[in-house]
Amino acid sequence: MCGIVGYTGNHQAAPILLDGLAKLEYRGYDSAGLAVRDGSKLAEVVKATGKLYRLADKTDQGRSLPGTCGIGHTRWATHGDPSMINAHPHVSGNCSGSGSGAVESDVVGVHNGIIENFAELKEKLLHHGYVFYSDTDTEVVVKLVDYYYKKYKIGPIDAITRTMVRVRGSYALALMFRDYPGEVFAARKDSPLIIGTADDASYLASDVPAILKYTRSVYYIDNLQVARVAPGSVKFYDLNGDEVSLPLTEITWDAAAAEKGGYEHFMLKEIHEQPTAVRDTVNSLVKEGRVDLSAVGLTEEIIRSLTQIDIVACGSAWHVGMAAQYVIEDLVGIPVRVELASEFRYRSLPIGEGTLVIVISQSGETADSLAALRVAKERGALTLAIVNVIGSTIAREADHVLYTLAGPEIAVATTKAYSAQLVAMDALAVEMARVRGTITADQFGRLLEELSAIPDKIRRILEDKERIQWFSSKIANAHDIFFIGRGLDYAISLEGSLKMKEISYIHSEAYAAGELKHGTISLIENGTLVIGVLTQSRLFEKTISNMAECKSRGAYLMGITTNGNFSVEDSVNFTVYIPKTDEHFVSSLAVVPLQLLGYYTSINHGLDVDKPRNLAKSVTVE
Ligand code: G6P
Repeated sequence: MCGIVGYTGNHQAAPILLDGLAKLEYRGYDSAGLAVRDGSKLAEVVKATGKLYRLADKTDQGRSLPGTCGIGHTRWATHGDPSMINAHPHVSGNCSGSGSGAVESDVVGVHNGIIENFAELKEKLLHHGYVFYSDTDTEVVVKLVDYYYKKYKIGPIDAITRTMVRVRGSYALALMFRDYPGEVFAARKDSPLIIGTADDASYLASDVPAILKYTRSVYYIDNLQVARVAPGSVKFYDLNGDEVSLPLTEITWDAAAAEKGGYEHFMLKEIHEQPTAVRDTVNSLVKEGRVDLSAVGLTEEIIRSLTQIDIVACGSAWHVGMAAQYVIEDLVGIPVRVELASEFRYRSLPIGEGTLVIVISQSGETADSLAALRVAKERGALTLAIVNVIGSTIAREADHVLYTLAGPEIAVATTKAYSAQLVAMDALAVEMARVRGTITADQFGRLLEELSAIPDKIRRILEDKERIQWFSSKIANAHDIFFIGRGLDYAISLEGSLKMKEISYIHSEAYAAGELKHGTISLIENGTLVIGVLTQSRLFEKTISNMAECKSRGAYLMGITTNGNFSVEDSVNFTVYIPKTDEHFVSSLAVVPLQLLGYYTSINHGLDVDKPRNLAKSVTVE
């Protein structure tokens, strides 16, 4: 949800900023802009609507914008439509805001986040003679900083901290002040921001891949802190303006992991990285026939004391929760509730002693999931975060963290992070079952073996991807697709349906197969595609019957089932087989053909698979 970058050093800033923004485009891509300063000259601003290449073209790949210090932004609109006027950077002075050129302003800034009380602040500033050109909350913040800067005349840090005290909401801000050439000032609350340093340069960005090409030494600026960023040196301050020191972290993962590596799209690359993401995550937890939760800090005593588990998440991470509830209830026997984070935060769910709230999030920054975590903590629950991005806010605020090892995920539609989350939850369930004595030692050993075998089975499914590619060309003209299943198969259907609709823009719905007859079946007509997930032997016949009900109303059927279940072919038009595994872990396999189906359908429609319209990978607004 918007990406910001900053640079100050000896090199030309604009190409470095554009390069960084390209790595952040997954965070939003409806407009982009740069502000660059050449020595003590005024900052030059250039903006463009649409994807980043338009800004790159407009600035001759950054060459037409000289200067060694600058900030940049890629936008996912929250306040104000995606227009030139609303594109960042925003400035403190009076101007048309529509285009390019030197800005006669004391402050220029970019922002990721959302300022909740911007209307009230705008009123105040209007009263003080400020004139606004955009509909954005960002212009209000930049002008508020300018207001305090001029009123108190004690420098940027003080102006920024006063602003931080006054605004409500979330922000990662990067600002340049006319009187401080060669420096960028940054502030953060609840939106991600990292700052990197090299010998003679400093960088800031919403996410590590944006600067990894240049440095691996990174500071994770904390909530309510300010940074003063000069070439090769960074100072941090708290809200009182007192200097604080932060540890420098060395990034150990490979920059190549965030590149396409020969694949046409990040999504296809990430689908193929699933065996590795799953293996790495399983191996970090399963060691020598044991599940090792020492790094997570979940002791046997804690596990024994649990009486209730609440899983809270958004989007695909919520689907992981839906799958995990069946596995935990079946293996461990603890009651599990799965809640959408956006609902959980406003409900008055009783949270008793012995409740563990598990927040699942790839980015660790999703605003609703973060708010739900805070609510859970306030109500006295013990919290566990299952997070992919190291050092993210949710990871830092939860009592316990289990990191998935999926590596950086760039495509907006998640695949490998989802799969890593699934196996992390599975390993947790198996360990809880062992500790609480709900499975035998033999069952425990077998389940761990099955978990370790999943990466290879995913690889085998991927080897047969051409069949899915062929089928996707047959269904490319579908208008409506229904995904149905029962139990775990329902949880997989939810993810299959989301993958399809978010990247192919074909309307699809997931239904618990038994629920279809209570209304939705009236939508089935000649040629409607119904995809049945049929991996749970106990529920197989039931779902097949529901599919037959659809077929008799004209539906065209696809089934996903386990190798050996050949009788499915008597009932459906197209069958996909997945390798046999313990039925608790089948989601990790059955989801793969559905990811591929969504991917190839999107390609058949000629759509931008990695950056579907209206979406953003990390949703840091409510
Ligand atoms: C966005 C993404 C989804 C993701 C959800 C939760 O909506 O498009 O793919 O599942 O956010 O994100 P998180 O980072 O919390 O897992």
